[in-house]
Amino acid sequence: MGVGKVVRRLSGPLEPYLADAYRGFFFNVNGFADRVAGMGQVGSVVEIGCGEGALITALAERMPQTKFLGLDVTSNVGRLFDGDRTRVRFECTDAAVVAEREGAIADLVIVCDVMHHVPTEARRGLWQATEKLVKRGGRIVFKEWLKNPAPIYWIGWASDRFITGDRIQYETRETWMSQIEDGTSPWGVVSEMQLSPWKTNHAFVLERTRRVGGEAVESGK
Ligand SMILES: C[S@@+](CC[C@H](N)C(=O)[O-])C[C@H]1O[C@@H](n2cnc3c(N)ncnc32)[C@H](O)[C@@H]1O
Repeated sequence: MGVGKVVRRLSGPLEPYLADAYRGFFFNVNGFADRVAGMGQVGSVVEIGCGEGALITALAERMPQTKFLGLDVTSNVGRLFDGDRTRVRFECTDAAVVAEREGAIADLVIVCDVMHHVPTEARRGLWQATEKLVKRGGRIVFKEWLKNPAPIYWIGWASDRFITGDRIQYETRETWMSQIEDGTSPWGVVSEMQLSPWKTNHAFVLERTRRVGGEAVESGK
């Protein structure tokens, strides 16, 4: 178990504040939520790998008409969510199972700081589930901690490796771009976001814009 889990268990009622302060040093979740909400109001959002619900809490405040589904493989899914549960639900289920069961249910699917926790050989499966959950005309927002030479990158790496205890694998912006637009998928990057407080925080906004094998591909039906 990583050091972070032990500290959190010992911190009792202060836990949500400590968790926010720790995350906030590396990533401004509220600033990201502002940017996502600024893309426009939508009917339904799925967050894959939503953890304890920090991002959905911030988004639900900014998107008052939207329904949210948070998915994660951790049994703590949505544990710290603090908001309106009539339009927000959480499930501890593999995204591939939900995609198979429910199909294209979301106008927007968010994958935030998850893929670097997923072993390389399992990423394609998670990516396919992500694509399958998006309705026709919908979007994916894919946020990562980019591999680069900045000292903060290495501080983030050490924090994830030793405090969470996970065997993380980060990638450069170019690697993510080439994996997204690999010529076999209709998904293309339509815009990118540099996020605060460090440029290492980066998000890609994806739409089905590309032609595969000379034909326009319509998926998400
Ligand atoms: C750093 S946390 C990010 C939580 C949340 N997205 C946020 O930004 O606040 C990474 C999360 O990814 C989840 N995760 C790792 N592998 C996953 C998988 N294959 N499917 C779904 N979630 C996964 C972990 O359980 C963890 O909750």
